[in-house]
Amino acid sequence: MTEAERTVGTPAARQGMAVTARGVVVVRGGRRVVDDVDVDLVPGRILAVTGPSGSGKSTLLAVLAGLVLPDAGSVEPPDRAARAGVVFQGYGLLPVLTAAENVELPLQLRGLDRAAVREGAEVALARAGLPDVPDRLAEELSGGQRQRVAVARALALGAALLVADEPTAELDADSAALVLGAIRAEADAGAAVVLATHDPDVAALCDTRLHLVDGRATAEPAP
Ligand SMILES: Nc1ncnc2c1ncn2[C@@H]1O[C@H](COP(=O)(O)OP(=O)(O)OP(=O)(O)O)[C@@H](O)[C@H]1O
Ligand SMILES: [Mg+2]
Repeated sequence: MTEAERTVGTPAARQGMAVTARGVVVVRGGRRVVDDVDVDLVPGRILAVTGPSGSGKSTLLAVLAGLVLPDAGSVEPPDRAARAGVVFQGYGLLPVLTAAENVELPLQLRGLDRAAVREGAEVALARAGLPDVPDRLAEELSGGQRQRVAVARALALGAALLVADEPTAELDADSAALVLGAIRAEADAGAAVVLATHDPDVAALCDTRLHLVDGRATAEPAP
């Protein structure tokens, strides 16, 4: 058994990041697509953001990750993007890099040595359920495989804050369960986690839920 295999599924304990958002407003096309939303992200806990298509889930997640500045309201701490792992809804992979190279990127940017970069990517791909495609170009992968590469890239750094936009949308039930298990392991290791989902079963597995309709937080829909 390699070192990478031994550590699969057992991310190291770490300092998570509490995120406090108050009165967040994002205006797009003259409309409040996120409208006066409060969010608390807590280390060790997973928040599910649900709501119809266009209700503002991705926009809110981008704000929580620190990638988009709100037009009004406050989000603390301000420097969270540097400590966030992000799964983008459109994956955001570089198509001409291999699966492994995509996952290695954040580790390289962190300045790890070559062996640690390779092992980190190997472990993360295995945790996301994709140990067999490291040398395939991202553009050659199926949608579900790309999604798992995107998940692996977000897992690789052991982030204090994990922001995952519909991380299981393209996956079959087994792969979705594996990815959710990996996300839960991140929370158990201390990360604060927020994910967006259309799937009520995924939302039910999370610790708390926030339902958006037209950018506003509402009562949760009946199960
Ligand atoms: N740059 C923009 N200009 C105008 N409207 C925008 C822009 N970006 C987002 N929007 C609008 O903001 C709203 C919220 O978009 P967002 O992507 O956050 O929704 P979502 O809940 O993630 O939807 P989905 O479930 O389809 O992923 C949508 O109506 C979208 O069309
Ligand atoms: Mg979205």
